[in-house]
Amino acid sequence: MRNSGQGGVLPPVDSFVSAPVVRVDGQVRVPGDKSISHRAVMLGALAKGTTEITGFLPGEDCLATLAALSTMGVKFERPGETAVEIYGCGLNGLTAPKIPLDMGNSGTAMRLLCGLLAGQKFDSVLTGDASLVRRPMNRVADPLRTMGAEIATDNGYPPLAITGNQRLHAIDYIMPVASAQVKSALLFAGLYATGPVRITEPAVTRDHTERMLTLFGLPVQREKNHVILPAAGPLTAARIDVPGDLSSAAFLILAACLAKEGELVVEHVGLNPTRTGILRILELMQANIEVQAQTDSGGEPVGRIIVRPSRLKGADIPPEIVPLAIDEFPLVFVAAALAEGETVIRGAGELRHKESDRIRVMAKGLTTLGAEIEERADGAVIRGGKLSGGTIDSGGDHRVAMAFAVGAISAEGPIRITDTKNVATSFPGFVETACSVGMNIRADRSLSMDGG
Ligand code: S3P
Repeated sequence: MRNSGQGGVLPPVDSFVSAPVVRVDGQVRVPGDKSISHRAVMLGALAKGTTEITGFLPGEDCLATLAALSTMGVKFERPGETAVEIYGCGLNGLTAPKIPLDMGNSGTAMRLLCGLLAGQKFDSVLTGDASLVRRPMNRVADPLRTMGAEIATDNGYPPLAITGNQRLHAIDYIMPVASAQVKSALLFAGLYATGPVRITEPAVTRDHTERMLTLFGLPVQREKNHVILPAAGPLTAARIDVPGDLSSAAFLILAACLAKEGELVVEHVGLNPTRTGILRILELMQANIEVQAQTDSGGEPVGRIIVRPSRLKGADIPPEIVPLAIDEFPLVFVAAALAEGETVIRGAGELRHKESDRIRVMAKGLTTLGAEIEERADGAVIRGGKLSGGTIDSGGDHRVAMAFAVGAISAEGPIRITDTKNVATSFPGFVETACSVGMNIRADRSLSMDGG
């Protein structure tokens, strides 16, 4: 079985060209889940004892989290590329960082760590790359301030300067946006609070933090749309086998739907119901997908997904599914553009605050490829049919780049995608893995040779 997360990965390339193919097949594993990997190393660092993680995602985002923890004195070993042993230093064992913590491209790392750092005895600064410093941070800073934290921002944007030694107290917070990052930041701050943390979600969001806190010995309760951490308490080290990231598998799943021949089996992939919105959307679009749930791994459901060629139809996507597929929308745009009939995406305004403004970037790219798309403030209406070949700028957004690469499978000609280096933030080895199941993607060296 091919596993892109196990090495043999070429360095990131600035641009690539994806050409149409007829057949996608094989049996594949994708790299570990990004959300779970971030949380595993953060909670492992704060626990008592050694946390053993396998299936860790060695993508740049999670490596930034690991580097930040190391800057704060956390010791760990990496017996393999995807294995991490963290020597937990306890809730109060982190040491003051002497330099700003650079979270690179990762909104998850910055927002979750903001909650965690708000409860420390020392000051810290969180910063990031050109994309991250344009992402809104008041969504975490405001409720954390309500808990007693002191956080300075640059007009609501990074860098974040967090003043330590504050007394954090209880919060009962109604989240205005459905955000697992905000929820998790508050739960992390709750590890240092004098009273309970109660969060009301406007829609269900991914629950990895709740599951993992419970695994580390601090149960989190859910009552309808409320998430409650009743009291702070010590964490005990755990063993975590991170499942494959469904958000990465989704690219290959759509690839196998678009191909005319073949059968793709994705093994050992996370099937947490707060993440499977993309499967529900593709099913609504009449995709030929079979899901076989198998085991529970570290409190997370895991299974196998089998995908066969599909004739996709447009769909009106129910807005309540949006948070359950929030990272997969670049793919949904591409699927819609290639499906028969109209697709309506609404209630998805959050897409404008991701690694790029994903509604704008996708609408622009699809228009370049001849699609009929009407951009809306909170989504789009896409009348599907066909895509031509052409050149697309990914806007430095990893998921946009991969989505267009997949679209090329049934486009009329090759699609050249520029600014693709960030693919390594979430899916190291994407090009190699995609080619191993039959896609035709090659690094486009012409740009760098031109000096472009
Ligand atoms: C994530 C939550 C999502 C998602 C991001 C990862 C997480 O963000 O887009 O890629 O790990 O909690 P929001 O919760 O802000 O929508």
